[in-house]
This record gives sequence, structure tokens and C-alpha cells, in this order.
Amino acid sequence: MTETDEIDFEIDPEDLEGGPGTERELGEPCLLVDDLHITYRVLGAKRIGTAAADDAKGRRFLRRLLAQGRDQVGSVREIPAVRGVSFTARRGESIGIVGINGSGKSTLLRAVAGLIPPTKGAVYVAGEPSLLGVNAVLMGKLSGERNIMIGGLALGLTQAEVRAKFDDIVEFSGIGDAVYLPMRTYSSGMSARLRFAISSAATPDILMIDEALATGDATFRQKSKARIDTVREQAGTVFLVSHSLATIESICSRVLWVHEGRLVMDGPAEDVCAAYKGFVRAKRRKS
Ligand SMILES: Nc1ncnc2c1ncn2[C@@H]1O[C@H](COP(=O)(O)OP(=O)(O)OP(=O)(O)O)[C@@H](O)[C@H]1O
Ligand SMILES: [Mg+2]
Repeated sequence: MTETDEIDFEIDPEDLEGGPGTERELGEPCLLVDDLHITYRVLGAKRIGTAAADDAKGRRFLRRLLAQGRDQVGSVREIPAVRGVSFTARRGESIGIVGINGSGKSTLLRAVAGLIPPTKGAVYVAGEPSLLGVNAVLMGKLSGERNIMIGGLALGLTQAEVRAKFDDIVEFSGIGDAVYLPMRTYSSGMSARLRFAISSAATPDILMIDEALATGDATFRQKSKARIDTVREQAGTVFLVSHSLATIESICSRVLWVHEGRLVMDGPAEDVCAAYKGFVRAKRRKS
């Protein structure tokens, strides 16, 4: 599989209903990303063994290396995942982020959510970015039910408010009775849908979605789009990372194209998607 295989040009009619034409007046700026750099530091330790049984051994090995200190470990690899990205987002905007695998989309989103500190540069936010806040607290060994409570509290809801929204969240996610099972038993689609249902339950100021929509079926996509519209109507900002350009074009008015950690284009969805499609097609022809 190459890094462009996942990218989906197909247009589903139901994706386009309502269309991106839901133009609304934009509010004041609520997010400023200023020359943001994120560099991951990875220990250059070689993997020992392959089977899961080696896990404990691997962890012991890693602990020993860490205890010895970085200097003696030798190779610490630096991965510049985001390199000097700047943009401003306004209230009511829905912004898509596109780019091939490994281009830095998820890293950018996580940094905007405050989950990764900038290596250089800064992110200024007015209001609470939410989705990733939820992602950070959910726990695989706990049931969906417990995670709804934890995620809801992380969003700033009270226990009573979470209880009141519980049925809605379960219904929205469509996971049914699986809500009583540990989250680690969920398929990736199920957990993505539950995460989205939890994180959009509180109508956040900034809603961030990384691929979750792509894992749902048409009904789920329709429901998600309605939630996104609600957030925007209440002057929130939506960020959506997806490999489905149809989803991006149907939901976003503006698109950021990230390549090798740099922002190569920022503009109206139609223009950026067209340019990006051209790039992907050319890349496919070459590979
Ligand atoms: N936790 C991490 N530790 C080290 N390197 C990481 C980590 N997460 C991502 N990277 C690296 O940073 C770069 C950007 O990754 P990122 O996940 O942001 O890309 P992406 O655009 O979201 O890709 P995809 O389309 O596959 O989701 C890649 O080179 C990746 O290998
Ligand atoms: Mg990603």
C-alpha cells in the first residue's frame, strides 16, 4: 500500500446533501497558530524479539535504557512532524486538513488541542478545544458507559448533565449494548463513533475530528454533519482531518493542505481540494 491509496475521491450523494454552501458569516478569530513546530524525539533502540510474550522484556529493556539516561542510549532520533505552520481560525469556520499519510495532520490537531507542547512557536486559543481532550482521558479497559462519564466530566459537564445526555450519546454512537463492554473490545469504527458522540455532546467551542467520520456509515455521517452544523451555528470552530475529500468538501468551507509538516496551501475548500487531487494523481502515476 502506498501513502496515497487511502485517499478517496468518490462523492457519495448523501455526503453532499446540504453541501458546503452552508455559508455563514464568520465571527472573530478564536485560534492563532504561530510558527508552530513539533518535533518528536524517539529512542533509537532496536526491537528485541517479536512476539507479545516479549513485551515485558521489551519494557524492562526500555526502562533500563531510560534509567541510563539519554546520553548513553546514543541515538535519539528527531522527527520534525510539524515545521513552521501558521494560521488563524475564526468562529463559525469549518476547516478541513488534508495531506498524505505521515504529513503531520494528526500531530497538528493534537498540538492545537494542547496535547503536545510546541517545540517552537505557539498556539493561542480562545475557548476550550474539546475532542482530543476526550480522547486523552478515555480508557480501553473501562466500559463505554464509564468512559462516557469520564469523557463528559473532562468536557466540563457535571455528573448529572452526563447522566441526562447518556442515552443520547449511546444512541448517536449506534453501539447499542456494547456500551457495557470494555472499550478495548470495540472495533475501531465503534470506538471512533463513541468518541465523536462524547466529544460533541457538550457543544464545544472548538470541535476536532480526526478521521472519525470516515469510519461511520452514511447515517452516521449525516448525524455527524448535523452536529457539526450545530457547533458552527453556536459560533464554534470545527477542524476535520479526513482522507475522504468528498467528506471534506461537503463539510468544510476552508482547507489546509499539509505536506511534510509544512502548510503548503490554505484557502477555499474547492481550490485546495482540486490542487491536492492533482498532486495525488500525479504521485500515483509515478508510483
Ligand atoms: N508519537 C509519535 N512519536 C514519534 N513520531 C511520531 C509520533 N506520531 C507521529 N509521528 C511521526 O510524525 C510524522 C507525522 O505523523 P502524523 O500522525 O501527524 O501524520 P498524519 O498526517 O496524521 O498521517 P495519517 O494520514 O497516516 O494519519 C510521521 O513521520 C510520524 O511517523
Ligand atoms: Mg493521522
